[in-house]
Amino acid sequence: MTDQLFFAPLEGITGYIYRNAHHEYFPGITAYMAPFLSPYRERSLNEKLFRDVLPENNKGVPLIPQILTNHAEDFIWTAGALNELGYTEVNLNLGCPSGTVVAKHKGAGFLEDTWQLDRFLEQIFEKTNCKISIKTRIGVHSDDEWDELLQIFGKYPIETLYIHPRLRTDFYKNTPNKEAFSKALTGYPGEICYNGDLFEKKDIQEFRKEFPEQNLMMIGRGFLKNPALHRMYLWEEEPDKWKIKEFYDRLCSDYSQSFSGEIPVLYKMKELCIYLLPLFSNHEKYLKKIKKANHLSDFKIVFQNLFREQEILSDL
Ligand SMILES: Cc1cc2nc3c(=O)[nH]c(=O)nc-3n(C[C@H](O)[C@H](O)[C@H](O)COP(=O)(O)O)c2cc1C
Repeated sequence: MTDQLFFAPLEGITGYIYRNAHHEYFPGITAYMAPFLSPYRERSLNEKLFRDVLPENNKGVPLIPQILTNHAEDFIWTAGALNELGYTEVNLNLGCPSGTVVAKHKGAGFLEDTWQLDRFLEQIFEKTNCKISIKTRIGVHSDDEWDELLQIFGKYPIETLYIHPRLRTDFYKNTPNKEAFSKALTGYPGEICYNGDLFEKKDIQEFRKEFPEQNLMMIGRGFLKNPALHRMYLWEEEPDKWKIKEFYDRLCSDYSQSFSGEIPVLYKMKELCIYLLPLFSNHEKYLKKIKKANHLSDFKIVFQNLFREQEILSDL
């Protein structure tokens, strides 16, 4: 059983520009999951909905689109449209912890309404033509919710159950609940993919030691910190800092073509650097300067200096 690594959806970060460049510079991801599409009830407002997943924007990139809704009709309609675009699998988001999403009983907020969730799943599995996978947390307030959720999920032919074993109330704090994950391994009949806090090669290795049968893993922030993590883990490739520099130069150039004005590009590059820079020795002073940069040209100078003067940390 070869290990398969999926790139987790990161809304606002891993849009098609990021995915295309990542796939070109660091191939080997089994599939990228796109950040959620949130269909409006009023379908005439849906013009921009599919932009991120249009096939012409994702040529050659293995992609699973994700839908965030608690209306079965909206899910079925959106999945149908995605199927027409050529997608054979769509993912349901049951993990988003954001206050505005949860208040509408969507994302992780939907996990609280188990009766409604069950009816929703019944309808979408009956009326959707493509495969449906689910990305979920283990509950909203308490670990005790997990048993019932697993029992509900077990009733449906879910393609893959992606489990991020945290509660909604954890957001990204605390550590993933491995006991809850084990429960799914023994109590849930279908295919499972683990997600959560695999930041470095040694984290993946430790996880595999603990769960020798579990070869599907999904990684988000770990790939933002080290875009070559899968290649280091799967093929023992040595990290190459200049390749990462080329990747970031390409992102900067693609964002510059897509956004209007340099400020949104600068903000985007700063956001990416917050995740990436801890990969490097003595990165703090560079990050400080990058955060203070007011122009893209200032950013580029500090970024170039980081690569010239520092190395990728060796204990990854
Ligand atoms: C900025 C950000 C945006 C995210 N956007 C999404 C999203 O659109 N859909 C989703 O299912 N999860 C989303 N997540 C959750 C991640 O996909 C993933 O489950 C989480 O980061 C835990 O995995 P990691 O520890 O490997 O990063 C987001 C997380 C972050 C930090």
